[in-house]
Amino acid sequence: MPDRRSRPWLGTGWKMTKTRAQAIEYAKIVAGEAPGFADEINTFVLPAYPLIEPVARILSPAGVQVGAQNVHWADEGAFTGEVSAPMLTEIGATLVSIGHAERRAMFGETNETVRERAVGALRSGLTPLICVGEPAEQRDAGTAVAFVRRQIEIAVTGLGSEDLASIMIAYEPVWAIGEGSQAASPPQASEMHDAIRLMLMDIDPVSGAGIPILYGGSVDEQSASKLLSQAEIDGLFVGRAAWSADGFLRLARIAAGE
Ligand code: PGA
Repeated sequence: MPDRRSRPWLGTGWKMTKTRAQAIEYAKIVAGEAPGFADEINTFVLPAYPLIEPVARILSPAGVQVGAQNVHWADEGAFTGEVSAPMLTEIGATLVSIGHAERRAMFGETNETVRERAVGALRSGLTPLICVGEPAEQRDAGTAVAFVRRQIEIAVTGLGSEDLASIMIAYEPVWAIGEGSQAASPPQASEMHDAIRLMLMDIDPVSGAGIPILYGGSVDEQSASKLLSQAEIDGLFVGRAAWSADGFLRLARIAAGE
């Protein structure tokens, strides 16, 4: 079960970056330092599929979880180009991001397919990191909370308490992700995280209280500690700023309060 309060989370999705050699070099550098913060924070790295196994061999023994950036809902079958949860657990993945904004925008991901993927992940014991977040138009129109509520409600429909206790949420406003964007301000992020916590507790008062809610979108070394000091921000899901091992390690030290 993900543990929310005791230790903040720091994770990175590598997106479609890194060769095998670069991935292994990154993993070795991080593994060398990870025991130093393993008691303070929970960490994970999500490489592209072909890099999961070599990276997990190095990082898992150092206490850094390794996962995937997507997963199909079926365990096996005629789904050309897809990868299933049993295939991922077999190579050392323990978690998987689902419904990232880039998948929603570019690859037809919907709230319904997010739910199906999450169910597939849970069936194999993979922790789903369900990504939600509103586009700029919704924020400007004042409907951001309603938009995110719908994403979450559909994503978790039908999940029992035990499954709910095993998910994680990443709030990543679309307007804050990627090159040329700016992170949400701590009050903006905090307001949404508070709202998400209430939504989750409405759905299941017990499990909902423990689900880790991570913030993502242009997190960097300047914004990390202010974001992490907000009550309902349980961790950070980072792209660019953690694509170098040194960047990841600097953020890890910030998250560990060093
Ligand atoms: P970024 O990416 O930190 O590079 O903005 C975040 C994400 O896409 O999860």
